[in-house]
Amino acid sequence: MHIPTLTDIILQEQQKAPNAKGNLTLILTQIVDAAKIIASHANRTGLVDILGKTGNKNAYDEEVQKLDEFSNNLLVKTLFESNQVYAVASEELPDILYSPTKTGDYIVFFDPLDGSSNIDTNGPIGTIFSIYHKNDTVLQKGNKQIAAGYILYGPSTIFVYASQYSINGFTLDPSIGSFLLSFPNIKIPKKGNIYSINEGNYELFDEHTKKYLAHLKTTKSYKARYIGSMVADMHRTLLKGGIFLYPSDSKNKEGKLRLLFEVNPMAFLIEKAGGMAVSNGKNPLDILPIAVNHKVPIAIGSKENVEEFLKITND
Ligand code: AHG
Ligand code: MN
Ligand code: MN
Repeated sequence: MHIPTLTDIILQEQQKAPNAKGNLTLILTQIVDAAKIIASHANRTGLVDILGKTGNKNAYDEEVQKLDEFSNNLLVKTLFESNQVYAVASEELPDILYSPTKTGDYIVFFDPLDGSSNIDTNGPIGTIFSIYHKNDTVLQKGNKQIAAGYILYGPSTIFVYASQYSINGFTLDPSIGSFLLSFPNIKIPKKGNIYSINEGNYELFDEHTKKYLAHLKTTKSYKARYIGSMVADMHRTLLKGGIFLYPSDSKNKEGKLRLLFEVNPMAFLIEKAGGMAVSNGKNPLDILPIAVNHKVPIAIGSKENVEEFLKITND
């Protein structure tokens, strides 16, 4: 039996788009290749401590870089090499970076390494990306995204990709070096019983968030799970249902998560899977970004959970 690969699905979708010239396909192929390289480096992160930190040579006599720095540099290089990307912005870069050749019709935003604090303890980490057409402005509302996805580097490497047409998940088969379709046509459950929030910040939360958490606890039907890598927490939310929250608090007035690199791609993915996202009572995809590091609070997940969150926090 032939299991479709990520490349098969990307090519199939290219055919659905009238007038497609394959330029988006080239960008996606570059991201897929970068993901495989990051995955192989992630597998060796435990060795970095033995072999030396940034600035030292590893066993292969290569310069050892921190994984977030390495992933960032790799994605910038590989995206511009496609000749299809006009500009990139990354959580690891202070400003928008323009293609040296000023060519390309696309803009790519990415969080090269999400969940960095998990690296030292071999916890799950990820990469998030979001693709737009080149427009009058680089910073556009999330509802202009044409594709988004994430890669989860866990016990296996999983690539979840959404286009206008569909959302599918793929697992890397290391023996052949291909991502194989393992979660076709993902649909998030309408309701789930898992909530995910950093409750260590409880005393900093406002009364609305505290009231919602009290509701979850009194119903006694919820489980708490928090990995501390949005990619890993969102992957579980997508498959099992429930809700993930990073609210504003008295220290972080706008929350912690970045609209362009984390919130918008996840909101795009979750909507394609039938779920829902809200930020201060509205859809984050309708927020006009004012800066590359624009942060917003977020509640995202199964539709019924997010509606319940809205009802309780609005009362
Ligand atoms: P990054 O590693 O890219 O900076 O992102 C970390 C983010 C996100 O992945 C995660 O959900 C959240 O920060 C965790 O924050 P807390 O440690 O404050 O809970
Ligand atoms: Mn992140
Ligand atoms: Mn990051």
